[in-house]
Amino acid sequence: MKLTARKTGHEFGERDTVALFLPEGGEDVKGAEIPDDISHIVDRANLGFFGGKSGECAFIPIAGRPALIIAGLGKPAEITRETLRNSAALVTGTARKMKIKELDVVLPRLKGLEEKPVLCALAEGMYLANYAFDRYKTRKDETDAPVQSVSFHSVDTAGAARLLREVSIICSNSLLCRDLINETSERANPVSIAAEAKKLARLKGVSCTVLGRRELEKLGMGLLLAVGRAGANPPRMAILKYTGNPRGKKSLALVGKGITFDSGGLNLKPSGHIEDMRSDMAGAAACIYTIKAAAELGLKKNLYAVIPLCENMPGGNSYRPGDVYRSYNGMTVEIGNTDAEGRLVLADALAYTEFRLKPDYIIDIATLTGACLICFGEIIAGLLTPSDELAGALHAAGEETGERLWRLPLYGDYAEDLKSDIADISNVSSTRNAGTIIGASFLNSFVKSTPWAHLDIAGTSWGSKQRGYRPKNATGYGVRLFMELIKNLEI
Ligand code: BES
Ligand code: MN
Ligand code: ZN
Repeated sequence: MKLTARKTGHEFGERDTVALFLPEGGEDVKGAEIPDDISHIVDRANLGFFGGKSGECAFIPIAGRPALIIAGLGKPAEITRETLRNSAALVTGTARKMKIKELDVVLPRLKGLEEKPVLCALAEGMYLANYAFDRYKTRKDETDAPVQSVSFHSVDTAGAARLLREVSIICSNSLLCRDLINETSERANPVSIAAEAKKLARLKGVSCTVLGRRELEKLGMGLLLAVGRAGANPPRMAILKYTGNPRGKKSLALVGKGITFDSGGLNLKPSGHIEDMRSDMAGAAACIYTIKAAAELGLKKNLYAVIPLCENMPGGNSYRPGDVYRSYNGMTVEIGNTDAEGRLVLADALAYTEFRLKPDYIIDIATLTGACLICFGEIIAGLLTPSDELAGALHAAGEETGERLWRLPLYGDYAEDLKSDIADISNVSSTRNAGTIIGASFLNSFVKSTPWAHLDIAGTSWGSKQRGYRPKNATGYGVRLFMELIKNLEI
């Protein structure tokens, strides 16, 4: 979707379609909110029928005038950037159904909200809602066509164009992230995803190393190798580096869980739990597309993405409950359950990241526990970190982007449940309690001293239904959150 800025006061033709956003409230509220350059068009439409409630959206063709798509914004006092994104998503949805390829957007004037954040939120909502994973549909949906371009009317067109460029780079990478997660595990496997990461090395400032079985053995990544043992596709570890601030000494490393299919292994998942497990690499996808977005924007920041990739499969060669494997950091781990595989591959990746790359911050992102989905639903992600600084920065970025998260505690008491009789640590606790905290506690023992945060996206990475600008299935959670965080982090 192309986003452009156009000078306010532009004359519309009768073949144009103009999107208009109206708040809830009496005729006088609406009258005050309708900008002058469109009031002569609107005067022929009977807006008395339109309540302006959030969730309301209508297509209004007017003889001899441009057509209108009007979307409700809800009560003026309750309008936020997130409600604006969702109102904008309705406009995209309506335009897609009407097969309208080009749209003009007249920005609403809203008390307490400046034009720029309103512009960004509407552009994001429209962009992110213009998505369908239809590559395997032989006949494309005949009642839904993508919107191709949107012009936003603004007084400061240069300023608006700059913001819209940023929005389209970040949002296009969110959509690519969704595509990779939605892709079948047969196609999006450890080898092909590592190759996808390698492609990013074409971008300025980006380099990529991919480690195969031989190299992982040499490095001693016993946990990643154990989990990946029975996969028909061999494990990989991709390490991306983006240097946007060559003189800077600081960096952030993102570590993303890349289980391309989580069958559970010998602790096989039952029907009802296994169907969507191709999405168990959503953390990996978010890291890859954050690096791509940062490089395309030319951010003056230094980043790493470390991505352990493998399949968790049952078979004669599978790793087994009761086995013990040695991690990259030398610790031995008893396997209590082969379905707690994410923490194993992340343990090797986290230890490697801290020891070899020496970043100033480490954030891992993982579809780690079903318990997180039960606790927070599909609405917010779990955040666990000993660092108040990272907690604050991540929470703020979540509120800003709508990719929200909430902190859970990491008290040392929980780690006691991970004691093993025969090894240094077990990958599961003996009780079913506090699954998300237990998972994070396990990871915690593979990070020594670097400020670290863990994001559990088991709930937010995948939607069981469409919610506003978030489609059913892969949501792309993480890319927009990380881009916002990176902008504000001194690295
Ligand atoms: N990938 C799953 C977690 C998951 C569950 C993600 C549902 C998305 C939706 C993870 O590898 C897993 O299986 N976790 C187990 C851990 C348990 C065996 C300690 C779980 O949460 O049941
Ligand atoms: Mn699992
Ligand atoms: Zn998993």
